Amino acid sequence: MTFNPRQLARRPRRNRRSVSLREMVAETDLRCSNLVWPLFILPTESGRQEIATLPGQSRWGWRDAIEEMKLAFDLGIPGFALFPVIPEDEKDPVASQATNAKHPYLRILREMRRALPGAVLVTDIALDPFSSEGHDGLVKDGRILNDETLEVLARMALLHAETGIDMVAPSDMMDGRVAAIRQTLDQAGFMETGILAYAAKYASSFYGPFRDALGSAPRFGDKKTYQMDFRNGREAGLEARLDVEEGADIVMVKPGLPYLDIVARLKAAVQVPVAVYNVSGEYAMIKLAAKAGALNEKNAVMETLTAFRRAGADIIFTYHALDAANWLKN
Ligand code: PBG
Repeated sequence: MTFNPRQLARRPRRNRRSVSLREMVAETDLRCSNLVWPLFILPTESGRQEIATLPGQSRWGWRDAIEEMKLAFDLGIPGFALFPVIPEDEKDPVASQATNAKHPYLRILREMRRALPGAVLVTDIALDPFSSEGHDGLVKDGRILNDETLEVLARMALLHAETGIDMVAPSDMMDGRVAAIRQTLDQAGFMETGILAYAAKYASSFYGPFRDALGSAPRFGDKKTYQMDFRNGREAGLEARLDVEEGADIVMVKPGLPYLDIVARLKAAVQVPVAVYNVSGEYAMIKLAAKAGALNEKNAVMETLTAFRRAGADIIFTYHALDAANWLKN
């Protein structure tokens, strides 16, 4: 029997014939309203320090950060994830400054709230930027303490909530932190402050540039006793389910690109929105490859961000946010 192409009943290419047809049948879209831009905030009023390993991103003096955020918001980016740069001499083994009610960072958050009343402001809850150990929890004899850390995280979250930010984002991976934070916020009357939980956060080599930006690399060991093992997928379902039960409003997967299977898994497993963090190392890979002429930056970024949406992400944290917003406009 000879094969006759004329008898092919199914020709998927028919739906790809023209731009209009491809637009009509596209299964996924990427909108500005899906994006959250992470920013590094200096304690100084003005300033812009470029970050060598995160080309195109800077540490911003807080007034300059507000100006950048206003531009981004006007462009259609609704959300901002904020990370404070803490001077080395303010760090100590118990991350005292994380719970200092008079810390200048809290004043900065209030200024941001005033300047951007309509934006979604998200703050990170973990001890690493404040800890001389560079770990997300309290440390004793080289071990990261779980239950002792919860109370500190909850106090930190409450101080952030009091500034009027929209959501706290625990990124520490201690067991029970969502419950501890939810209870503390509710008891203080902050029922409307949300919790975006870094539910499936893996111990990853893709956080390198972020740790350069904050000077927050662990001083000893690694984060494998609290962040997840990258060999595990099923366990992400457990982490997400626990966070939702404990009161998380949104769950996040991090990193992003090597973990699209986890995004798809969580999308099927939970009924809250799913976010993904396109982390610093992923951003650096595209920027550096584009600079070397290995790929077209715009096309690679749009493909990457759309792939997050296809996998099921409702929200994308990405350093490409500003570029993507501009490209989506044109
Ligand atoms: C802190 C935190 C990290 C990131 C976000 N929050 C670093 C880490 O866990 O070591 C990484 C983000 C990025 O790489 O862009 N807990």
